[in-house]
Amino acid sequence: MDGLRYFHDKLPLVSLLVLLPLTTTLSILANAAPFNLTTIPFDEGYNHLFGDGNLVRSPDGKGVRLLLDQYTGSGFISSSLYDHGFFSAKIKLPSDYTAGICVAFYTSNADVFEKSHDELDIEFLGNRERKPWRFQTNLYGNGSTNRGREERYRLWFDPTKDFHRYSILWTPNNIIFYVDEVPIREVVRKEAMGGDYPSKPMSLYATIWDASNWATDGGKAKVNYKFAPFVAEFKDLVLEGCPADPIEQFPFAEFCAEKLAYLTSQDYSTISHARRAAMRRFRQRYMYYSYCYDSLRYPVPMPECEIIPAEKARFKDTGRLKFGGSHKKQPKRRSRNQGAASDNQVDM
Ligand SMILES: *[C@@H]1O[C@H](CO)[C@@H](O)[C@H](O)[C@H]1NC(C)=O
Ligand SMILES: *[C@@H]1O[C@H](CO)[C@@H](O)[C@H](O)[C@H]1NC(C)=O
Repeated sequence: MDGLRYFHDKLPLVSLLVLLPLTTTLSILANAAPFNLTTIPFDEGYNHLFGDGNLVRSPDGKGVRLLLDQYTGSGFISSSLYDHGFFSAKIKLPSDYTAGICVAFYTSNADVFEKSHDELDIEFLGNRERKPWRFQTNLYGNGSTNRGREERYRLWFDPTKDFHRYSILWTPNNIIFYVDEVPIREVVRKEAMGGDYPSKPMSLYATIWDASNWATDGGKAKVNYKFAPFVAEFKDLVLEGCPADPIEQFPFAEFCAEKLAYLTSQDYSTISHARRAAMRRFRQRYMYYSYCYDSLRYPVPMPECEIIPAEKARFKDTGRLKFGGSHKKQPKRRSRNQGAASDNQVDM
């Protein structure tokens, strides 16, 4: 409803009629009023991480292009670690043949805490020509690397045509992944998660790299450097959070109280009724794997999993859709105990 009201406000009736064929797509975008974000120039918040000449700053200083060629991928990292935060960028993904490529936008402190690191992931997975990109989200806490919490989805638009905003919110109470203004996944902290809920300051990373061994069709479709360089563009970067040295400023609670109050008062920290409805619609239509429904991998669902019976009915005990979403091909046979990271057989 809010989405329609928004369009009523912004557009004359005649354009509304033109838009009618798009309503299936638009209904995902209920309440699409943009967040009130403060963007920062690249050099104000980030550093080049790897890939020599393959990180190219935009002339206006607001963004970068990350290239992958036969010699190297590339990446950047935030100059500070943050105790909680809202990490966001507008991203445009490489087009055409992109099989084997992973573009990652994530937070981690693996450099500081080798054995007990925390991590929040958005990973875009390339595809063969004329096949769409897919993406996954995941989280780890305190080194819970043997307990992946992957979900996989398709997008409702072509992410290679235009920039779209992708965001990760992390507060002490919840984690929300956003695509544009649509929350696509919320993890509400549960006591039983213990250290699995990320709790130590993390840096923001963005990278493009060759993930030929797993990203597409379980590693069957590899990067083809005939089509290089592959270019992912980042701009309008947002870094909200409390810059905190995980050693010096421990514990952070007091030091970061003010910034945390700011963070949790922002509209992206609470999911409105309309946005929650959009999240449900997104998950019904575009999610094709969830660890919460993968009872072969986790016979007892993780404590934060909300098992929705109507949703569960659509998934097999492998956590994958019974019917392959929008595509018509039958899923290929697969070994039953493959992890989701290497399990990509339902090619979309
Ligand atoms: C947007 O954020 C800025 C900076 O925090 C603030 O000054 C402004 O009032 C906000 N605007 C709205 C519409 O909330
Ligand atoms: C994190 O893991 C370490 C062992 O690696 C353990 O000693 C510590 O209690 C854990 N912290 C939390 C918050 O669970």
